Amino acid sequence: MLKGKKIVIGVTGGIAVYKAVDIVSRLKKLGAEVNVIMTKAATEFVTPLTFQSLSHNPVVVDMFGKAHYWDVEHISLADKADLMLIAPATANIIGKIANGIADDMLSTTIMATKAKVVLSPAMNVNMYNNPIFQENLSYLKEKGYKVIEADAGYLACGYEGRGRLPDPEEIVNNAVAYLLAQEEDLKGKRIMITAGGTREELDPVRYLGNNSSGKMGYSLARMAKARGADVTLVSASTELSPPKGVDIIIAQSASHMYKEVLENREGQDAIIMAAAVADYRPKRRLDSKLKKKEGPLSLELDRTEDILASLGKDKKDQVLVGFAAESDNIIENAESKLKRKKADLIVANDISKDDTGFSSDSNQVVIISEDKEVEIPKSNKLVIADKILDQLNILL
Ligand code: CTP
Repeated sequence: MLKGKKIVIGVTGGIAVYKAVDIVSRLKKLGAEVNVIMTKAATEFVTPLTFQSLSHNPVVVDMFGKAHYWDVEHISLADKADLMLIAPATANIIGKIANGIADDMLSTTIMATKAKVVLSPAMNVNMYNNPIFQENLSYLKEKGYKVIEADAGYLACGYEGRGRLPDPEEIVNNAVAYLLAQEEDLKGKRIMITAGGTREELDPVRYLGNNSSGKMGYSLARMAKARGADVTLVSASTELSPPKGVDIIIAQSASHMYKEVLENREGQDAIIMAAAVADYRPKRRLDSKLKKKEGPLSLELDRTEDILASLGKDKKDQVLVGFAAESDNIIENAESKLKRKKADLIVANDISKDDTGFSSDSNQVVIISEDKEVEIPKSNKLVIADKILDQLNILL
């Protein structure tokens, strides 16, 4: 999905450097061309050879070393980058960028690039909370630098708190979203997105659920955030880590999600129902565990509230997007859903194929509105999310 994209990764010295190895490998797998610039301190943790082997490109450390390119090296890398990702970014590099200091290859390249720069800080919690560091970070955000906030948790220095480099998968997802986002064209827009599969409890240990992984909804949340929107993610069950910088509301069951979506709908410019909401729930939820008996068991089920239809019924000035998981007559079924639920867009996907849909990283969809059908070929879910937001943006 990143074929033809050039990403320059800046690696600065911290114990989290080992995670940068995985980041490079993941970006390569997605098809990007990757160049790594290391600071001297970073080479104390991992050798340049590791990054060179994974990126298939020479690693640059020294400002005055042998040039690998025919022109001035820091300018060459600065010019060729579609995106620069600094991970881990120490307090030192962030302090340097904020103060206009360019005294080594990495800081010079950052200063010289016109590409988007994404910073993923990692450090000791006291350094992270230091007001000087926080001011530097806020200043850089104001100047248009993108920041992937550090995670909280156990730190290598033995402390607990914020300062941990997020998982490589999370960093890569954020970086890709920023790379795909051409501009912040959703700035000032509020978008609520539901995701994941609801669980309808039968007793304290059992539930009726579905196979939704939440990946489509989470990709929409990431992409909408990268395009500048204020995002509220109403999430049912999923194993995914929450996207950075979005408001999260957990809603496990259909009725809980119904309540949260309706309570929070006011002021939203768009609502995207990407969650796989159960259509039925057990008529009664037992307080103690259901014991087995001889012979078959019948369960009586009630219909759940249809959240999208409720939003459509009492339609406000907001764009409504629904999903349709279809195995046959895809377009006809999706068109009828569009009318029935009074949605503005229905994203229909063919669940009969193994390599798209529920738990896959990719999807193939048709976006249906009143007057057109837009077919999106099989792509990564972040790309699909971007295309859905393009169609949604036309209606905002
Ligand atoms: N939806 C909802 N509330 C429900 C069920 C579904 O808001 N109780 C939303 C889903 O989030 C999705 C769309 O409605 O956006 C899917 O519609 P649905 O009628 O459930 O279709 P499918 O489950 O895809 O298919 P079927 O028509 O076979 O039920």
